[in-house]
Amino acid sequence: MTTSATHCPHSFEFQAATRLVVGSGSLARVGDLARGLGGTRVLLVSDPGLVATGFPARAEELLASAGLACHLFQEFGENPSTAHVAAGLEAAQECRPDLIVALGGGSSMDCAKGINFVYSFGGSMHDYHGRERVGRERGPMLPSIAVPTTAGTGSETQSFALISDAETGAKMACGDPRAAFRVAILDVELTLTQPDRVTALTGIDAVSHAVESFVSRAATPASRLFAREAWRLLATNLPRVFANGRDVEARSAVQLGAAWAGVAIENAMLGGAHAMANPLTQLHGIPHGQAVGLVLPHVVRFNAPQCEDDYADLCRDLPTMAAIPGSVRLADWLQYLLRQAGMSASLADLGLADADTAALAAIATQQWTGSFNPRPFSATDFETLYEASR
Ligand SMILES: [Fe+2]
Repeated sequence: MTTSATHCPHSFEFQAATRLVVGSGSLARVGDLARGLGGTRVLLVSDPGLVATGFPARAEELLASAGLACHLFQEFGENPSTAHVAAGLEAAQECRPDLIVALGGGSSMDCAKGINFVYSFGGSMHDYHGRERVGRERGPMLPSIAVPTTAGTGSETQSFALISDAETGAKMACGDPRAAFRVAILDVELTLTQPDRVTALTGIDAVSHAVESFVSRAATPASRLFAREAWRLLATNLPRVFANGRDVEARSAVQLGAAWAGVAIENAMLGGAHAMANPLTQLHGIPHGQAVGLVLPHVVRFNAPQCEDDYADLCRDLPTMAAIPGSVRLADWLQYLLRQAGMSASLADLGLADADTAALAAIATQQWTGSFNPRPFSATDFETLYEASR
């Protein structure tokens, strides 16, 4: 299979839904940008872990000084669930916002999108599992602004909310172009206070987004532009950030790379590493970035027969190494990056040497994201890759 034939469909669409406002100190513009979207009453959705940074208080001040009323909602955790969204809906029904601002990492942005779904269209989060479950005649959702404080999920530039079922822990991807943020403010100063562990988890996640979307079965010429540039920015700058978290130039590049990867996901979806990561989170509580980082090198090796040219292309941004196939080199480098980030490279490292790989594989086969992997998976393939990750 040639990559050019695979990845250049004759017809596709591309529309960037989110206006990006990029620059150090750009949080200061949140009030004007909120007013520009017609906002008068804001529901500010911000992770409680951020209170100590002072960023939510600063955003409230800026919104207030622009003449907007602001209600802060913080009752949610690291993996926002259907219960958290229901609590957010109650908060929204009290303050009747005409604009939502999400300030924080992926959990804040996903929770804000989830609240927007149920506040704008009613029902429960389950009604939105999948893509575009609501007819166009229902009109728009509330306008919203993202202010990411991590660089990883790409939630700021794509229209999916990842919400866990509060009962089962299963992750639901709920997407609609109307859920995309109208504006994303990329202010590098907000990313400098992240704990190293958060930088590592989110950075590895962003890399996985670039690698998986670049070779996705749904990739388009547009998505590949964004995935390729996301990869270049991340592969060349993440090692600098892991070595020195105060490297503002590298942090800025990583922040932009994560956002470009979000655009790529929006247009191309992901692949097998995300299908394998979700069961590790669901059954064993492994954080998403750790789970996806652990399995990605194995998925790259599995995909090699279909993706050798593309993987060799990605390797052009890596330090020169011996003339070995792109897939081998890429997989080796991804494992090196994982170790540099201080993360575990095997299930045994995570205390899961005895994990039930058949149970994990059974859930992985149910993951929609796996259907976009360039090489189709059987349940046996998933189990073999979990075994290889042991
Ligand atoms: Fe991810």
